[in-house]
This record gives sequence, C-alpha cells and structure tokens, in this order.
Amino acid sequence: VGVAQACGVRSAASSPVGPGSPQVAELERTRRAAGARVVDVPLRAKQATVDLGGVQVPTWVFDDRLPGPEIRLRRGDVLRARLSNEVSEDTSVHWHGIAMRNDMDGVPGLTQDPVRPGSTFTYEFAVPHAGTYFFHPHVGVQLDRGLYAPLIVEDPDEPGRYDAEAVIVLDDWLDGVTAGPDAKLAELRRDGMKMDHGGMSGMGHGDMGHGSAGGGASPLGADAGDVDYPHYLVNGRLATAPETVPAKPGQRLRLRLINAAGDTAFRVALGGHRMTVTDTDGFPVEPVEADSLLIGMGERYDVVVTLGDGVFPLVASAEGKQGQAMALIRTGAGAAPPADVRPRELDGGLLMADALSAAAPVRLAAGQPDRTHTVELGMDMSQPYRWTLNGKAFDEHVPMPVQQGERVRLRFVNKTMMFHPMHLHGHTFQVVGGQRPGPRKDTTSVLPMQTVEVDFVADNPGQWMLHCHNIYHGEAGMMTTVSYV
Ligand code: C2O
Ligand code: CU
Repeated sequence: VGVAQACGVRSAASSPVGPGSPQVAELERTRRAAGARVVDVPLRAKQATVDLGGVQVPTWVFDDRLPGPEIRLRRGDVLRARLSNEVSEDTSVHWHGIAMRNDMDGVPGLTQDPVRPGSTFTYEFAVPHAGTYFFHPHVGVQLDRGLYAPLIVEDPDEPGRYDAEAVIVLDDWLDGVTAGPDAKLAELRRDGMKMDHGGMSGMGHGDMGHGSAGGGASPLGADAGDVDYPHYLVNGRLATAPETVPAKPGQRLRLRLINAAGDTAFRVALGGHRMTVTDTDGFPVEPVEADSLLIGMGERYDVVVTLGDGVFPLVASAEGKQGQAMALIRTGAGAAPPADVRPRELDGGLLMADALSAAAPVRLAAGQPDRTHTVELGMDMSQPYRWTLNGKAFDEHVPMPVQQGERVRLRFVNKTMMFHPMHLHGHTFQVVGGQRPGPRKDTTSVLPMQTVEVDFVADNPGQWMLHCHNIYHGEAGMMTTVSYV
C-alpha cells in the first residue's frame, strides 16, 4: 500500500491539505524575503568506494564523500538543491528538522513522486530558522548506507558566542557490502531480534547486555539497538584514523554534533573539558554544563567548549553496544591518544534532553493544547519484526488530523523495552517539562516504558511524517502521518 493510497481523501468534510495546496504555496510566499539569496547546490546520490581510514567500503553516498558535502546557508536563504539520482533505486532528499514547504519535504508517496534512477529533482525552499540540521533520503534504509550530510543554517544576527566551530557527524557502519543495511533489514524481518531483546516480551532482562566499559546500566535500557555494527564513525572516520580539528588554546569552540546513525545512540564527551550545551535540534536552550551527552538517532546538539592546550579526544561511544569513534581536537603539542581511549568525562554527569529548557525567545506561549493525540509505541507480536504506532504498522496507519492554528500535543507512550527517537517533520515541538518548559526539538528520545509529551503549533500546512528515527524500526512499520485537514 502506498502512502498516497493510505492517506487518501476520507470524506469531503476532512479533505487533507496536500503538499501542492494553495496554503503551502502561500506560506512559502510569506517566508521569502524580497531579494533573498538563492543558494544553488548540485547533489549526486551515487555509488562510490569510500575510505573509512584504512577500510575501503563500496556504498552509496552524496558526491563521493562520507558524510556528503556540507550545505551551509544563512537564515532566510532559499536553497535550490538539484538532486541527480545515480543509484539503482528510487531515492529522495528529506531536510531533517527544517520547517519548510510541505512539497519539498522529500517523502516519496506523501509529498512527492520518487526520484527514479537516472532522473533529477530540484528542491527549492526558504529556510526559516538557523541551526544544525542534516539531510538524507526518505526511502528504505538508504540513510544507513551513507547517504547523509550536514545542513548548517547560520544566524546572521548571532552575537559572537564562539570563536571557531566544527561539525561532527556520528554514524554506525555495517560491513562494506553495498547491500548491507537492506540485507540486515531482511534478516530482522525473517528472524526477528536477538532473543535477549525485551522488546519481544516487555520483560525478562537478566542480561544487562554489553554495557559500556565503566558506566552502569544505560538509561536507554539493556538493548540500545537491534543491530551490532562492526564500525563506528565520526565524520566518516574510524577511531584508528581520526580526523584532527586544529584550534587554538583558549578558543571557544562550537561543536555541532549530529547523530546520523541508523540504529545507535552515542554518548559523547571531550577529554579534559566540560561542554556547555547551547542548542538542540537547531533551537537554543538555556545553557547547561555537562561532562557527557547522550544523542539519539536524528538528534543534534550544539555545545561550546573553552579549549585547553594539547590534543583532546572527542569520543562518541556506542551506547549499550561495544565500540566507539572519535575525532581529535589539537591546540598544541602532544601524542594522539589510542583509539580506545575512554576519557573520564564519558562516565561523568550525563546530560539528556530532559535536563534542558528552551531559551526564552523560542518558548511556546504558556497554554493548554487544543488537541491531544496519544501515540503508543509498540510491537506487533504476530510477526517477527514489525514495529507499530497505536497498534498499526505504517501500511495500515491512520493519519492523525490537525487543523491550522491549533496547539497540538503528542503524547508518546512507550510500551517496549527499547528507546525510540521520535521525529516529526516540518515542525519543532516543545517537550512538556516539569516546572519549566522543555527544549524545542524535532526528535525526542522516548525511553523504555516511559511517556513523553510534546506540544507544537500547527503552522505549516501539509502532510507530515511522524516516526521512529531508528531507521530499522521506521522501515519495519514505526511511522505514521500528521495530516492537516
Ligand atoms: Cu530524518 Cu523522516 O527523517
Ligand atoms: Cu524505534
């Protein structure tokens, strides 16, 4: 069943506001400032052999590189990206986290036709918010082959909060056969998960899993992922051949951390430093200091560090799995640490999004929702590997209606023993906090057996995906849509 079919018009009274509707075009007109800069970017999705640092892997990437080439814009720019599909399957580009016009959101079957092999598609849209984003196809598990790249939107009015910056993209990597991620998904669908997965039964965790070397139990539960990866990468490099970021002692370095992994959350720390978290998912938070950060798939965190003098490992440790990747920050003389270095900050104060609060200028006005949708995260026990939202896999999903102008609450109720990073397209929600408003985000980790509520203002008409950003869960059904009616 295609998405278009599943989302078909149900009755005249609730016609969905489709991607190509007048509302979508009108909104784009209001977003475009007269004389906005148009940035043209060619983008080729193609097969290539990339070097992870001594390991050569044939795979699919953008423009022969892993990560693909960064796109850097200023808030208010218009991005015009011409995608050429040079791989053997349909593809697309989804601009993860960007609140842009619905018909450019890159979801084949929902917002556009698939981009066929040998053809092109030009994405063109105004970029309304500054921040750290990334992009990837919205087809199958192509993201996990290596089709991803950072998208950075600078704020022209930003005061000088930092002196230098580095973009740090985290990834997990299956063995370098082109079919790796697809074969893995097929295997999961055939055999189900490893038997120690609580997701099957919701109980029975005698074995605490692999665990992380000095850390106790992971907040993500005993099984932080379905796939064990042979490699972990920072900016496309193995820990044995890390990228070095040159900087100067005393500089305030902004790190833009992006988790582009398919099935791995990372615990991140910079040896010898505390990090000040300034933004998550592109939106500022009240600054908070942390030793280490837990970053789910699809999430981004911006942190600022004041650099010491020497060579410092920025380590991304695969949470609940075995392995890590790193980059080095070099401000002075010194030997590079070994690939398995474990800075003590990794086991220090761990920050997750629930400790954050939106910065005052980006908070939603106080108020109650006009409408609440409960989204129950579960599994279909009748088949080996089928993840569900409200008891339904995507092929039988029921779109969740919203109306323009409403304040909408999503209540994610996780009934499984795994964590799920839930991602909403086209909007940035605010996590409902305790005493204070939570952070603005587009991807929020819902821990095992926990409930997380988020509010968003329905201000971007169209049809939008809502799904788990564990790419295997998503493809195995854990997706639905939010539908303007
Ligand atoms: Cu990055 Cu629908 O996702
Ligand atoms: Cu999931």
